Amino acid sequence: MAAKGKQGTLLQAICRNYLFSKRIYYKQSPVKKLYVQTRLGHSSTSSWSINSYMPEASAFHGIRCFKDLHNLSVLDPDTFWGVLAKARLEWSKPFDAVNESDFKSGTIKWFQGGQLNVSVNCVDRHALLSPERVALIWERDEPGTEVKVTYRKLLEMTCRLANVLKRHGIKKGDRVAIYMPVSPVAVAAMLACTRIGAVHTVVFAGFSADSLSGRILDGECNAIITCNQGIRGGRLVELKKTVDEAVKNCPMVKCVFVAHRTENKVPMSDMDIPLEEAMAKEEAVCPPEIMESEDMLFMLYTSGSTGKPKGIVHTQAGYLLYAGLTHKYVFDYHQGDVFGCVADIGWITGHSYVVYGPLCNGGTTVLFESTPTYPNPGRYWETVQRLRINQFYGAPTAFRLLMKYGDDWVKRYDRSSLKTLGSVGEPIHHEAWEWYYGVVGDGKCTVLDTWWQTETGGICITPRPSEEGAEIVPAIAMRPFFGIVPALMDENGKELKGQNVAGALCIKQPWPGIARTLYGDHQRFLDSYFRTYPGYYFTGDGAHRSIEGYYQLTGRMDDVINISGHRLGTAEVEDAMDEHPDVPEAAVIGIPHDIKGEVPFAFVVLKDDVSRAEKVVVEELKSMVTSKIAKYAVPDHIVVVKRLPKTRSGKIMRRVLRKIATNETSDLGDLTTMDDPEIITEVIEYYEKYKQQKSSA
Ligand code: WT7
Repeated sequence: MAAKGKQGTLLQAICRNYLFSKRIYYKQSPVKKLYVQTRLGHSSTSSWSINSYMPEASAFHGIRCFKDLHNLSVLDPDTFWGVLAKARLEWSKPFDAVNESDFKSGTIKWFQGGQLNVSVNCVDRHALLSPERVALIWERDEPGTEVKVTYRKLLEMTCRLANVLKRHGIKKGDRVAIYMPVSPVAVAAMLACTRIGAVHTVVFAGFSADSLSGRILDGECNAIITCNQGIRGGRLVELKKTVDEAVKNCPMVKCVFVAHRTENKVPMSDMDIPLEEAMAKEEAVCPPEIMESEDMLFMLYTSGSTGKPKGIVHTQAGYLLYAGLTHKYVFDYHQGDVFGCVADIGWITGHSYVVYGPLCNGGTTVLFESTPTYPNPGRYWETVQRLRINQFYGAPTAFRLLMKYGDDWVKRYDRSSLKTLGSVGEPIHHEAWEWYYGVVGDGKCTVLDTWWQTETGGICITPRPSEEGAEIVPAIAMRPFFGIVPALMDENGKELKGQNVAGALCIKQPWPGIARTLYGDHQRFLDSYFRTYPGYYFTGDGAHRSIEGYYQLTGRMDDVINISGHRLGTAEVEDAMDEHPDVPEAAVIGIPHDIKGEVPFAFVVLKDDVSRAEKVVVEELKSMVTSKIAKYAVPDHIVVVKRLPKTRSGKIMRRVLRKIATNETSDLGDLTTMDDPEIITEVIEYYEKYKQQKSSA
């Protein structure tokens, strides 16, 4: 036992050294300007009081200002979250205990003993009070053809869809894959699962058949909900065809429900059920399944540092409360506002801020089906004008792209409805922040860099909420949300105290939104998040804490890269390429990119006896990555080399490859563990040759 313990410590130390050896990409210029925003993050100026800001504050003792409230959330989380959970969620049975979590053992449990249904919280209670309030505005791909769905209608759709699922034998605890574009029927599908207690796993409709079947197999799903086709940026997407291909490898799938986005017919087999037809035959009422707080709500696959994606599991009450509360207080959402988060439901942002957060609050949420540049680069702002959007939430990669088209595409549309502008997915650099603030927001909106992860369930670090008149520093996430206690760790695994320090970003105490496990692999959950820094949740990101105590994210510390806000493990790409019969080895790293943030870069070794042209093999590799993962995962550069630099124990030295790929060969760092330093010169030569070929082509 003792030996094992020792080994564990050693492993942790190696792991930490590795983490700290990775170069941090997003070095931002030091903060120069401080803005005092013209509009405050919380309600209007003069009449502001803590009780109007958060009515529950009157239930807490001695809370006078925002700071008091934030302190309470951190110092007495049980009281804070307990009162809010009671007030903001509708329970079938009250919970017995608020929080029984422990980061030391990686056990997370909130609101045990409580029972509720998420669809009731997101739909029924609002449909009862204001049935004609608009719940969803579906901003379809074709501009000017938006469709509004009221809470009454959403309830009806959810119930009918739930009844369809039940009729086909889907029951509480079953897993259902959703492979659909952003649309009301997709939202109804998610809610229908929650209504009957099934667990949904939404797979982004841009993933390949192999990715889809991998997730279906891992999640042991017995049904899929999809569309005949999708339309995005004016182009048809063959969704059903991809599902057909995926299902061939998934014997446990019993039925495929097919909604219709286009008029086109697609081949239907015995297990395929036309969804709208089936819904029309069902009743518009469906009694909700009563769920325990800690029953699974959904899982969502995301990339880790191995080739196998992780099925992040979120549960009912804690997740919903956290999504709802962050939606309300980060964005300053008020009844009647139109909330426009342009993320896809295939990502966590779509789950928390297109669907669950806004609907939990009885809000009106926009479902954006299109792209930022269709039919032209004014699409976002034309949509803002037409739908009178009050809060806009998007990704830096899109802002960087749109900036290139010039300000006129923004200025020609009326954006006076906008109050809050959010950014998510990756660091927003200064230029993009200034553009978002000055051009899109006309200098009148609160701009928020929001940091969080699939695992955190909702926003954790962001400038708002904060006390009256508090400044916002451009382009950094700044402040922890209620109940969030960040910690920065050094190379030796010690917590860094004080200000002006940088290290591995951890979160110190549990909050209701944190993921509970990885589906089917709790050990990997513990290893990924709670092992490197025992007693802390490790985010995988690095951060700096400024003199003022503000947090600035500095990028991932592991082998996860961020392409246009989409997370991808470099090991996934390596695994896909390794399957090529002529490729014994491949190493993939991320390098910075103007618009996408990062892009994958591959060094591949070909077998000695490959007779076909290199070019042919490279093309085959690209199509393999497309079919095994998705198009966005295809490396921008594939450089064929003879050998890869390795340590004496045989580990590929990706850190060295990263230096070569970013042309920083003057300082390659510590090479003492390297097996054969000659290889470096060799790889550099191959890369130079590659660059020459590329520029002459
Ligand atoms: C990773 C999480 C959170 C929803 C979308 C992505 C990076 C996210 C920021 C930000 C710097 C950010 C981190 C994080 N990230 N937001 N505001 N500043 N980095 O969710 O796919 O789970 O990715 O995205 O590296 O760990 P995800």
